[in-house]
Amino acid sequence: MDIHGLHNYTVAILKEAGERIRRSFHEVMQIETKSDANDLVTNIDKEIEQFIINKIRTYDDTYRVFGEEGMAGNPVTSLEGVVWIVDPIDGTMNFVRQHRNFAISIGIYEDGVGQAGYIYDVVADELYYAIAGEGAYMNGQRLAHLEALPLNKSIVGINAVWGTPNKKIEHEGVIRLIRKLRGTRSLGAATLEMMAVATGRMDAYISLRLSPWDIAAGVIIANEVGAIASTLENKKINLLEQDTFIVSNPSIHSEIINDYITLK
Ligand code: IPD
Ligand code: CA
Ligand code: CA
Repeated sequence: MDIHGLHNYTVAILKEAGERIRRSFHEVMQIETKSDANDLVTNIDKEIEQFIINKIRTYDDTYRVFGEEGMAGNPVTSLEGVVWIVDPIDGTMNFVRQHRNFAISIGIYEDGVGQAGYIYDVVADELYYAIAGEGAYMNGQRLAHLEALPLNKSIVGINAVWGTPNKKIEHEGVIRLIRKLRGTRSLGAATLEMMAVATGRMDAYISLRLSPWDIAAGVIIANEVGAIASTLENKKINLLEQDTFIVSNPSIHSEIINDYITLK
């Protein structure tokens, strides 16, 4: 695969998809729920995924697409060959409620190896991207390598619910972590939380359940600035399954996992 040849084409897809999403703000949206009442999908999520799939197939119909809304048909069960992992709108609740703070995410993989990642914050018009091994960029500006910092000076993205009694994680450890940190944030879009870490606006982002399309692009970009991504059990990311997730400045990654996180 010629990833450099594909780069401009992918950027053009994202820009056109972004324009379609901005236009949709003036239309009436159809909103449905999926796994639970807070898991939303709109007709725009589906239309944008279909638009991206059509563009990919026009370029090369051997490329497979693994998209959140399943519009490509056959479920993806292996990462053999070229696979595009797509979240047409990450942060659908923000999209519906705020008309901002959501992003389009595209990760391009070949035989399971990340080749290029793209996260487009549509309303801010900020495009984060990386071709593996060539550094990470935002709108053409190179992102700096992350600098080490101690936990008590760190800002970490975490959902407040994990500091309350729950079935997934020992909340006392989470409370100890929150007390240790300089601050916490919750942006409501995994892709943008990952880009906050990649740009040093946050120092880690923790989630108890993310899907391949939430992280496929972000891990490629974050890797280029030296961030570490793993599960909360410090296992390698598996892009075929949902799992826990942390992306972090390398100076605090093991300390967070070892001293503060206990999964149930
Ligand atoms: C969701 C967002 C959210 C995260 C959820 C994801 P969606 O993606 O990234 O921030 O907490 O786990 O499912 O459904 O808006 O594409
Ligand atoms: Ca998502
Ligand atoms: Ca989505």
